[in-house]
Amino acid sequence: MDRFLIEGGAPLQGEALVSGAKNAALPILCASLLSSQPLVVRNLPPLRDVRTMTKLLTGMGVTVQTLSSEGSAQEILKLEAGGVDKLEAPYELVKTMRASILVLGPMLARFGQALVSLPGGCAIGQRPVDQHIRGLQAMGASVEVQKGYLVARASRLKGAHIATDMVTVTGTENLMMAACLADGCTVIDNAAREPEVVDLAQCLIAMGAKISGAGTDRIVVEGVRELRGADHCVMPDRIEAGTFLCAVMATGGEILLKGVCEAHMAATLDKLRQSGLQVRATDDGLWAKADKRPLPVDIRTAPYPGFATDMQAQFMAVNTIAQGTSTVAETIFENRFMHVQELQRLGAQIRIDGHTAIIQGVKKLTGAAVMATDLRASAGLVIAGLVAEGETEIDRIYHLDRGYDRMEDKLIALGGRVRRVKSAA
Ligand code: UD1
Repeated sequence: MDRFLIEGGAPLQGEALVSGAKNAALPILCASLLSSQPLVVRNLPPLRDVRTMTKLLTGMGVTVQTLSSEGSAQEILKLEAGGVDKLEAPYELVKTMRASILVLGPMLARFGQALVSLPGGCAIGQRPVDQHIRGLQAMGASVEVQKGYLVARASRLKGAHIATDMVTVTGTENLMMAACLADGCTVIDNAAREPEVVDLAQCLIAMGAKISGAGTDRIVVEGVRELRGADHCVMPDRIEAGTFLCAVMATGGEILLKGVCEAHMAATLDKLRQSGLQVRATDDGLWAKADKRPLPVDIRTAPYPGFATDMQAQFMAVNTIAQGTSTVAETIFENRFMHVQELQRLGAQIRIDGHTAIIQGVKKLTGAAVMATDLRASAGLVIAGLVAEGETEIDRIYHLDRGYDRMEDKLIALGGRVRRVKSAA
């Protein structure tokens, strides 16, 4: 198990290239199941979750060919689902990555059946998949739970009017993919408006799907008989970009982030500007500079275009060293404050009141041993470690590797003093 050793105190300076978005890549890889023709996906981040998804698809009989050179930071895969022969997502893979549920809609739509393990518990909350199931049932599928598996069947899905009870990103994506091959028109109301949903819709449209309204809260899909192959380039990762911007806000310094799409980042940029970050778009990304201690900024997470829950831990790390008191309210997941105890170990002054953390900014954090608990919590700890005086040791970095491509290399290139070491077994 790897860990990070971080020597805090160095300001970040220089350039970093932002990877393709994990949360767009995962559903797009699943879209390959909707056609027997090849789907080429470009700008894939070389992450553990992407490898897990290709393993899942390969296990079903999808042929996956790597077109990029080995070790490339922007992988290109060609996926061909002409020979799918095992309509199953097993527990061993699903339990390591909840996004595996994204194979359910495409499998059911194209093959009329699917066996997908229920994801089970998850560190950041219950995260049920009832909305995915209800939507598919509205489209005429029968879905039962047997021995921990969802057993879904439908001769052919039928278009339906679906309104989800809450905004769900993967729920919207699953239903949108299923609707592509359904008989008739499907309307998804209360749809997630995340840019990753739009990126998936663009890939599906390139495959011949008839989708309108992606990026709004009403998506309309006119079902077609079959989809064709396509060639799609995954959007940049707005969460990775936001993480680096929070890091520079916390440490001070000046960075150029290449390959970022500013339009996707309005809520994060707005809060970072309130915090004191100077930031502007350049021809190929974003330039950012911080030269004073952050101002305290209140945050409330919300579905897009609100402030992303996936940026909450990183922003909280910035607030821990702000010149005053701030609040961070988490409205999406019920148990997403596990980084708080770890930040406290570094000297942060944080109190939790229900779903709100109240942060009294301190002048400095002090290095200590901490434990990563989930993907974005780990990113928050890295930011805190970059600021803390002395050495911070972050254990269980495998959480970070799920969603950040070689974060330490990018930080080292920016002058961060980060070292990856293998933990004793
Ligand atoms: C996606 C993202 C994740 C992000 C989250 C919220 C991917 C692969 N992951 O996760 O990084 O943190 O969106 O922006 O894109 N819910 C239900 N029933 C359902 C579905 C969701 O109750 O059937 C609840 C969840 O428990 C949660 C809320 O709805 O409280 C939003 O969850 P959702 O948007 O579905 O998260 P994911 O798609 O799993």
